[in-house]
Parts: sequence; C-alpha cells; structure tokens
Amino acid sequence: MNEKKKRILTGDRPTGRMHIGHYVGSFQNRIRLQDQYESFFIIADLHMLTTRPEKDNTLLLEENIREIVLDYLSVGIDPERSVIFLQSAVPETYELNLLFEMLVTVPRLERLPSLKDMARDAELETMPLGLLGYPVLQAADILLPRADLVPVGKDNESHVEITREIARKFNRFYGDVFPIPEALIGDTPSLIGTDGQAKMSKSLDNAIYLSDDVATVEKKVRGMYTDPNRVRADIPGRVEGNPVFIFHDAFNPDHEEVEDLKTRYRAGKVGDVEVKTKLARALNDFLEPIREERARYASDPALVQEILYQGTQKMRAEARETMERVHAAMGMYRLPSD
Ligand code: TRP
Repeated sequence: MNEKKKRILTGDRPTGRMHIGHYVGSFQNRIRLQDQYESFFIIADLHMLTTRPEKDNTLLLEENIREIVLDYLSVGIDPERSVIFLQSAVPETYELNLLFEMLVTVPRLERLPSLKDMARDAELETMPLGLLGYPVLQAADILLPRADLVPVGKDNESHVEITREIARKFNRFYGDVFPIPEALIGDTPSLIGTDGQAKMSKSLDNAIYLSDDVATVEKKVRGMYTDPNRVRADIPGRVEGNPVFIFHDAFNPDHEEVEDLKTRYRAGKVGDVEVKTKLARALNDFLEPIREERARYASDPALVQEILYQGTQKMRAEARETMERVHAAMGMYRLPSD
C-alpha cells in the first residue's frame, strides 16, 4: 500500500539563537516526526514584524535567519527529507492571508489571550492590526502547504483553532480545498531557566544555547540556581523543582549517576560542585554532536543559503498549486496570467 504521507507544518520566529529548552520542547519531537510525515518548517519572519517592525529589528533578520537554519540543521532536521523555508519569500502567503481576513471577525481575535500577552510583552499600548491578524497569517502558513498536523506549544493552540475555523468556513463557502489541520500539543513542560525562573528564555538571560561552547556551558552551570536553603554541602537538600536536577533528568543519560547524586543530595552528602561538574559534562556530551554539525554547516554559508533557497522553492510550488485550487473554488474573475 502506498498511502500518501501526511503533512506537518511548524516553525519559529527568527528572534535569536535556539536553546536547550527549545530542544526538549520541540526539536526532539520534530526530528522524530520527520520520519513519519512530510515536514515543512517555516521561518516566520513576517510574524516577527507583528511586534517588532522597526528597522533595528529588520536589520537583525539576516543574521537571525541564518542562525535558525543552522540550529535546525545542527539538531538533525534533514533538508533531504524536510522543507525549511522563509515565510516572507513565499508571496502567496500575503495573498492567502488577505483572503482569510474575510473569514474571521475582529472580536474573535480580540478575545485571544495569546495576542494580549504578546502586546504586553512588547510593551505596545494598543493593538496593531498586524498583531491582531497574527493567527490569520499563521492560518495562511499552515494551509498553504495544506498541512494536516501542526506540532506547537500550548501558547499556539488557539491559533490552530482559528486555522481550523477558517479552513471550515472556506470549505463551506467555496468547496473543499483545505484539510482541517490538527494541533499536536507537546506534553513536555517548558524547561526551567538556569536562574530557577519558570521558563528558559533569551529575554530572561537564563538560557543555555545549542551553540554555546564547552567553557560557556561550564560557566553557566557553575552559576546555576540550586536549593537556596542549602548554604553548606552537609545540609540535606531539595531535589524536586531544583534546576540542576531537572537538567540532570532531561540531559544526563546515566540514570544511575543521577539517582546516586539525588540520594546523596537529599542526605547532605554531596557538594554542589560535584552535582554541577557532572551536569556540565552531561550537557557538553549532549551538545557536542550538535556543535559539530553546526560547525560543519557554518563553514559553508553558501550551502546553508542554498538549503533555504531550495526549501523555499519547494514551498512556492506547493503554494502555487494551493492558490490555483483557491481561485478555482472561489470562482473569481481572473485576467489571463503570464
Ligand atoms: N507562532 C509561532 C511562534 O510562536 C511561529 C509560527 C508562525 C508558526 N507560523 C506558524 C508555528 C505556523 C506553527 C505553524 O513562534
């Protein structure tokens, strides 16, 4: 039986280098999924403009896009099997976005907490039209390649719901063009920051990046927050909720070592230095192959650009096919095209 593979679309805004929290939260999953599904990975530069349209930000895009492609390639997203593409270089995105804007109401979008959160985080006093339309643009991203599945975090779940509503409405108005895509919500909670804050993030300056070198990882781990009540190594410590042990559980494959450290930590029989030295080693072992892949690609910028270019060409071919179906279904008057 030669059943057609289902399609996945997901991606990221190019706002900076990716960290180990992204790895456990999404990359791990994406790498696994690309065996089973035809995968499209979008670098959503237009979405970045919804909160940061100023020129000092647009000027960062070139570098950030390059970094994110390197992050994707270094963790094992395989350009032979999967498509990595640049959102702003697919003109049909803008076109489908506008058509979709007719199929959703302003109050429906105004109710979304995710948009209010983004406006607040960006310190915007009032809602820009483009930010209100963020989920509509995301619907265009998802439906242009006619994706079936959208692996995203909880914060994007409502955007996939809007996408489903738009797809249903389009199909009802004009005929069956779009699949009704499903969100695939990861169940891994966000990784805690090195400072013990709930979430690892670039803006909180508490992240370990996939591209950090050995010495940087050692230094960041040495400075990690642990049990604040444990002022000396012979005081029993708390393992639960302790970032060093959360990281050990996530990245140290030597379970025996981790259990031994936990037992001794609880009993006040191990110093932070030993726990952290072993953690830094585990993290560096985990990151080493990723660093090697990154260095290999980084040494060939033309290849990296070519991968993004070819991916974008593949996406554009899909987008043209979709827009033909859209125009045919809508029955709009078309002038002869060249
Ligand atoms: N909204 C996603 C984020 O939070 C990025 C994104 C843009 C996306 N378009 C997408 C994710 C389509 C999944 C599918 O950064």
